[in-house]
Amino acid sequence: MSVLAIDAGTTGVTAVVVEEDGSVAAKGYEEFAQHFPKPGWVEHVPEEIWQATLEATRQVLRSYDATRLQAVGITNQRETVLLWDRETLGSPRRAIVWQDRRTADLCARLRDEGHEDRVSELTGLRLDPYFSGTKLMWLREHEPHTWALVESGRYAVGTVDSYLIARMTRGTYHVTDVSNASRTLLMDLSTGEWSDELCELFGVPRDALPELVPNWGEIAVTDPKTFLDLSLPIAGVAGDQQSALFGQTCFDEGDAKCTYGTGSFVLTNCGSSIERSEAGLLATAAWRSPDGELTYATEGAIFVTGAAVQWLRDGLQIVGSAAETQAVAGTVPDSEGVVFVPALTGLGAPHWDPHARGLIIGITRGTTRAHVVRATLEAIAFEVRDVLETMPARSSLRVDGGAAANDLLCQIQADQLGVPVERPKVVETTALGAAFLAGLGAGVWSSSDDLRHTWSLDRRFEPRGDRATADAAHARWRDAVERSKGWADQ
Ligand code: G3P
Repeated sequence: MSVLAIDAGTTGVTAVVVEEDGSVAAKGYEEFAQHFPKPGWVEHVPEEIWQATLEATRQVLRSYDATRLQAVGITNQRETVLLWDRETLGSPRRAIVWQDRRTADLCARLRDEGHEDRVSELTGLRLDPYFSGTKLMWLREHEPHTWALVESGRYAVGTVDSYLIARMTRGTYHVTDVSNASRTLLMDLSTGEWSDELCELFGVPRDALPELVPNWGEIAVTDPKTFLDLSLPIAGVAGDQQSALFGQTCFDEGDAKCTYGTGSFVLTNCGSSIERSEAGLLATAAWRSPDGELTYATEGAIFVTGAAVQWLRDGLQIVGSAAETQAVAGTVPDSEGVVFVPALTGLGAPHWDPHARGLIIGITRGTTRAHVVRATLEAIAFEVRDVLETMPARSSLRVDGGAAANDLLCQIQADQLGVPVERPKVVETTALGAAFLAGLGAGVWSSSDDLRHTWSLDRRFEPRGDRATADAAHARWRDAVERSKGWADQ
């Protein structure tokens, strides 16, 4: 018995087959285009996300016997909003992506009107363009003709998970889960239900939103006519960061992980209590069991980490691939004073400044691409340290995601944190989490204990070097961060 997991991330879709022992038996991946119509704006074409999902799954099925599949699990980039026609499943416009900053002024307006405290109290979030609510409000205000069809009931509103489930089931289901819903600014975190008060504030008709379902169990069934001849129960769903928390088997209160993806996200399991932070962390839903039990997490959301490496590759074109950064950065012992603040889409936790923009400082005549590449890896480690410093001290940190394969990054991370960094054998933990959820839902695994046994360590990176050197580098970074703030607001 095995499970198909689909991880619809920010830059591409990964499909994996996970066996009962937690090993990955087959894998497919398909990238899709990023659209930047204006500075600070980021959009995706929904149809391309769907086509990438089909292609990644086709790649898996080329080497794997589909009759062994028991269920499918879905995980996804969160906060990104999509509209689609309930009949044709076509989308009237591109998706507005979580990284998109177009609603910075809208957030300021809501703040000026005095809404921030109430919104935070209800959602555990803050008024930042990151979350879906103001993106939908922007659509309502700027594209009234499109929005009229949302109001009339013809267009559905949803996140990437609900869009994919609609496509996989030919529009039969319009559902999502609390881990995705809790990122929209429309869900009451304490009840795990849509909030009428918030729907009214952001002007979103509640009927356009998906039904909230548990994170595992009988969620939907794929339609073979539309999903590659597969008729499978969709038995697990979660936003990617909560999915990675599940995939790292962080089932107990206090368990934490850091996922290096397009951004990086540090989540700590808080059990059944909502923990609010004064230091820039979010409170969020982790998952809800079929019997209704809610588990919460705190989250440090860093917007640009892997995306900075992607920018080195596609924007600056100074590396040919993300993997190459390790070799290039390894040719120099340090960045020689070069600091890169990758605030390419503003700053998230713990700074929260949508007007911050990227900067590279400390360049001299002797600076080479190796120093810039090294400064990029260091920036990722500094950003994660900034978030970890707002959380209770830990004795180690579990990491995962694409960049966790980069030994140099893991080492710099351990040096910066001063505690060991642990990398599991399977670093596609986001997809693994979706497989675990679906496998629990479909009976491939019967309990969280079954899943815990599948986790195994690949490598533990012990901190090296002296604290004074690490701290001095970090202090330089904090200075540069301050200089990046407010730049787009001038
Ligand atoms: O909140 C955004 C997050 O869900 C995106 O994750 O893995 O695509 O960087 P990722």
